Amino acid sequence: MRVFGSGMRALRVVLFLAFICINVGDVAAQTDDQDYAALTALTKDWKNLPQSWKGGDPCGGKWEGITCDNSRIITIKLSSAGVTGQLSGDLASLSELQILDLSYNTGLTGSLPPTIGKLTNLTSLILLGCGFSGTIPDSIGSLVKLGTLSLNSNKFTGPIPASIGNLAKVSWLDLADNKLSGPIPVSNGTTPGLDLLLHTKHFHFGKNQLSGTIPPSLFSSDMILIHVLFDNNKLTGSLPETLGLVQSLQTVRFDRNSLSGTLPDNLNNLTDVNELVLSKNSFTGDFPDLSGMNNLNSLDLSNNKFTATEVPTWLSSLQSLTTLTLEQTGIEGELPSDIFNIPQLETVILKNNQLNGTLTISGSYSRQLALIDLQSNKIEAVKVAPGYNSTLLLDGNPFCEGNSVNLAYCKSQQNLGSLYTTPVFCVASKCASGLTSSSNCKCGYPYTGIWTFRAPSFSAYGNPSYFGELQQSLLTSLVSYKLPVDSISMSDVAVDTFGNLNMRLAIFPAGLEFFNKTGVTSLGFVFSNQTYKPNKKFGPYIFIADSYPYADSSGRSSETSHNGVIIGAVVGCSVLLLLLLCAGGYAYHQKKRAEKAKLKATTLASWDSQHIGGDVPQLKGARFFSFEELQRCTNNFSEDNNIGAGGFGKVYKGILADKQIVAIKRCQEGSMQGSREFKNEIELLSRVHHKNLVKLMGFCYAQGEQMLVYEFIPNGTLMESLLGTSGIQLDWMRRLMVTLGAARGLQYLHELADPPIIHRDIKSTNILLDERLIAKVADFGLSKLFGDTEKGYVTTQVKGTMGYMDPEYYMTNQVTEKSDVFSFGVVMMEMVTARRPIQQGKYIVKEIRTKIDRTRGLYNLEDLIDPILLRSKTPLVGIEKFVDLALKCVEDAGVDRPTMGELVKEIETIVKMAGLNPSLESPSVSWTSEVGGDGRHPYSDESLYRHNSGSTPLTSADYK
Ligand SMILES: *[C@@H]1O[C@H](CO)[C@@H](O)[C@H](O)[C@H]1NC(C)=O
Repeated sequence: MRVFGSGMRALRVVLFLAFICINVGDVAAQTDDQDYAALTALTKDWKNLPQSWKGGDPCGGKWEGITCDNSRIITIKLSSAGVTGQLSGDLASLSELQILDLSYNTGLTGSLPPTIGKLTNLTSLILLGCGFSGTIPDSIGSLVKLGTLSLNSNKFTGPIPASIGNLAKVSWLDLADNKLSGPIPVSNGTTPGLDLLLHTKHFHFGKNQLSGTIPPSLFSSDMILIHVLFDNNKLTGSLPETLGLVQSLQTVRFDRNSLSGTLPDNLNNLTDVNELVLSKNSFTGDFPDLSGMNNLNSLDLSNNKFTATEVPTWLSSLQSLTTLTLEQTGIEGELPSDIFNIPQLETVILKNNQLNGTLTISGSYSRQLALIDLQSNKIEAVKVAPGYNSTLLLDGNPFCEGNSVNLAYCKSQQNLGSLYTTPVFCVASKCASGLTSSSNCKCGYPYTGIWTFRAPSFSAYGNPSYFGELQQSLLTSLVSYKLPVDSISMSDVAVDTFGNLNMRLAIFPAGLEFFNKTGVTSLGFVFSNQTYKPNKKFGPYIFIADSYPYADSSGRSSETSHNGVIIGAVVGCSVLLLLLLCAGGYAYHQKKRAEKAKLKATTLASWDSQHIGGDVPQLKGARFFSFEELQRCTNNFSEDNNIGAGGFGKVYKGILADKQIVAIKRCQEGSMQGSREFKNEIELLSRVHHKNLVKLMGFCYAQGEQMLVYEFIPNGTLMESLLGTSGIQLDWMRRLMVTLGAARGLQYLHELADPPIIHRDIKSTNILLDERLIAKVADFGLSKLFGDTEKGYVTTQVKGTMGYMDPEYYMTNQVTEKSDVFSFGVVMMEMVTARRPIQQGKYIVKEIRTKIDRTRGLYNLEDLIDPILLRSKTPLVGIEKFVDLALKCVEDAGVDRPTMGELVKEIETIVKMAGLNPSLESPSVSWTSEVGGDGRHPYSDESLYRHNSGSTPLTSADYK
């Protein structure tokens, strides 16, 4: 007995230890019996419940999406959880519940149980994007603490319950995108109605089948509504004058109904409205006077039956207007040209009207203009300011009849395809099946869905900056919410038939390939709860997530329940095993820590000239620099010496002891390579010597730093010279010589370096100009050896630069030397146009391809050619041939592009045509007397050369 007793004691101690070992950090709070029973009953028939819900205690056991207060369940968040089943009346017993978010579970079906009205502590009821049907129960009106009610994008039928009028605190009311029918309920003394909702900011009722008239009592001056969306319903009658009393309004949509009658005069009082969309109704009477709506960004009155009238003069005074859509509104007469001078104007759609006379787009047109659609009017003549090169559609006007049909303005509009797609700056990875490559070229399973914007205030959808900014802002927010997000991709941006802007959104996980269930439900809540708020110009949004395949359902999860481990182990009486686990876990932890420490030590190990080990790089013509030497010569890396920054760190100018000036690339923490990669790179770079390549002087690998030391190139980048920001302007002859030099540098990398090198990031900021304006190709940081693979291409992930990227490069995952040729073709186009590859949303390659007419002088490219070239006295000898060559370089298929060797030969021919000697590389000595028989220097247009040779650093040579 005594033995047994002490054995029991020992067992108890061991069990206790085991409990401590595994359960450290778990605060065991027990769930209230009633809540536990309710939750169990509620989820009895649900499928795909989170793994963590299978055992243990909801409040104490870390059940996903559940939070408790004093053993009562107050939050259930199961957004995007893939749960299927029905919502049973047992829900009602969770009487302390405050937040219920079941959004994006399309497998949740059936009707809402009327007992839902018992959850009187609910502040948020979010069921959007599920599969619920049936009528919305009247009892919903009992949830008087609700601030957010989102029942949108389900299949609810029947009327809007009048009882919703009792939700005195509701701010966000979204019933859109259902099959609700019947009239809009308003109070009548005995029953409540929507007119009582004096704290509501959002009336979202679009995409339903609501009918009847809009009751005038629906709106009053006591309301604080900002969004009133009744679009895409079956409403009849007129727009009530009371709408004009709601001074807080910002977005108003009644489009796509059957409304009629004249518009109320007092709409004009709504001076905060940004978007007014009343299109596709049957409004009659005079065209409304909206001259007071100074904040209007978007006005759409299309497809109504207003009395014919000339374009009202006040329209041009709406200075905030970006989008004017007056298709088929009875507008007639001559279009006043000052309409195009509204400063932010992006889109004007006036098709199917009776505009006549001359269309004038004067020189002060809005530089944001992306589209003017005047199809099917009676315009006879057109005067367009030079420089206007956005879309202008005039098909169906007398102007286009007869022999002018070939004019660009007379084509009918083509389908634009996706208006935006997140650019990929790297070589898309080949992913295992089911996984997708992110914009960072990492494989993963993204959280996806359709993001819909119901009233954006802009319309130049082709301008990538709008979506780029949105993407950045969303990513920043998600990261700030501590969600494990790697990157975001947008695609399939388009306007749908309901007048909404849609896109496909993909959010990629960081670290692992999958988001875990917590990650997914948290992401879902960010959208379903509108936690993320985009810039106001995107207006109200909804996001409908696709279902997400779970990590834990595919066996990849680390989400095994702690409780499960304990129970399993105890049942098996494997107490000893537990102890071993405990000790083993500790040892494992210690080992990891030791490994980490070792790794750190290696990274920090100094690797300078004294450190002669077997692993020292074999350098040719480059040397080691000590950290102290570089520190000294850059004034301790002072900000004054910082001359630029690139993808992997800052660039400093330094003056060595022998007075030689160098440029030092200092890798920032996080972008450092392993010592092996670094060694490979410097060995490679030190072997590369050519007069058109920036020379590597040496490197430093000490004190945990990686630095590359290059010769300093004083005249900055080619892009700076082309854009006129470097004090140097290049005439045509100099551009030819710079092109030839850069091409030769690249030819050397491809054809003479051993092993051959693909640059992978050719662009005008990677071509530097020395004191004699000789081109030097810089930044082989991204270069990799051909020799890495046998097939002549490499598939390592690498970043390129938008606008220069070979389309074949990311479609096939293969980098060849022809990818460099493509980028070089883009640089040649910059030489001709002095434009950035993508400027104001326009891609230079496309611009030239569209505009080119080989039957005309200068190939009809006057509008695109750099005005400095056109003004200069230097003849543009060979520019057409130059453009032909550039276009060959950007052929879609790599095989159709020339090699760099062929390209160099062709450029040499042009250089000879221009009377220059291709064997000389410096502009100051490269002229011959063959040209300009009067003995003039062929570069005699010296006014173009404003090189200030003072002692101040000239430019921030971008070594990246
Ligand atoms: C243009 O239309 C207006 C209004 O219909 C009409 O008065 C005017 O005569 C027309 N002008 C021309 C040049 O046809």
